[in-house]
Amino acid sequence: MRATRLGLTSLRGRRLLPLLALVLLVALLVACDAPQSTTEIAGNNNDKLWEPYRVVLVLAAIVFVLVLVLTLGFSIWFRERPGRPARQIHGNTRLEVIWTLIPVAIVAMIAIPTFDALFKIDKDPPADAMKIEAIGHQWWFEFRYLDDKGETVLTTANELHLPEGKPVTIALRSVDVIHSFWVPAISGKVDMIPGHDNNISFTATKARPEPYLGQCAELCGLSHANMRFRVFVQAPADFDNWMSDQKKDSTSATGDLASEGEQLFAQSACIGCHTVRGTSAQGKVGPDLTHVGSRTTVAAGTLENNAQNLARWIRNSADVKPGSKMPPQGASAGGTLTDDQIAAIAAYLLSLR
Ligand code: CUA
Repeated sequence: MRATRLGLTSLRGRRLLPLLALVLLVALLVACDAPQSTTEIAGNNNDKLWEPYRVVLVLAAIVFVLVLVLTLGFSIWFRERPGRPARQIHGNTRLEVIWTLIPVAIVAMIAIPTFDALFKIDKDPPADAMKIEAIGHQWWFEFRYLDDKGETVLTTANELHLPEGKPVTIALRSVDVIHSFWVPAISGKVDMIPGHDNNISFTATKARPEPYLGQCAELCGLSHANMRFRVFVQAPADFDNWMSDQKKDSTSATGDLASEGEQLFAQSACIGCHTVRGTSAQGKVGPDLTHVGSRTTVAAGTLENNAQNLARWIRNSADVKPGSKMPPQGASAGGTLTDDQIAAIAAYLLSLR
């Protein structure tokens, strides 16, 4: 008797376990920080996307609850009982018509606000919209700020600065495979397709000191997950300051280590791929490094920008980002530079602010 009761308790315990796990999981997810949330509305596109999102959320919640309640209800009401044989039926036309019409109505209720939002987002940008070109590379983002005639006035990488409240239109391109431009809190998601011009237009509406996180949203090879970027939305005056700083050419490094790094850099293979405006480095394959020291991250948002991480990246970039196209420079990884030389180059790059 006693053994049976114990057995029952542990059986009930075992049934409760999955439920407990579910509750814990939900609690954990609720506590999650969501740095890339589409529900955080910091751009006018998200404003419009929120409408269909809300409709889908409400409809899905109703369907979810209804299906659960009915499944549970039916399994209790129609459970096997002694002396009550199951009734054999062969279809029910009225029921089938009803459960075909209900989903059709639901799809229509979703389609109307969805198309409405799509058409609103797809509108041509205003004539005075700021023009930017975003170019996808395996695995980083190049950003070019253009003037009214479409000439490049500034080239940078992986960190996009935008003025609050000003419409921008971004031409999306790719030099290799299909990438996708996505800043969940600010804009929708649009693919960057080689040989095909795409566009995204929006207005960032909320300036803040922390960056908004963006990333490539199309599987594009080994380091797709490491193809991130940051968007800094600034008050217009702060943005103008940033812009005029970034337009300046680099100046000679000060300090022993950085000066040594400057010389090493000028004689290294780096200049074949990278540009530092105002120097002999004019390569166009990798990111423009003219103001790399002013960026908060390196390796397309993968690492915090500091001397240690820069050195690690220069020594063997594939160690940070599998498949990286930048050849290893450290002697330990098959390159030619010693750790001391790499430290000097890192100090120089950090001085490029
Ligand atoms: Cu680029 Cu994924």
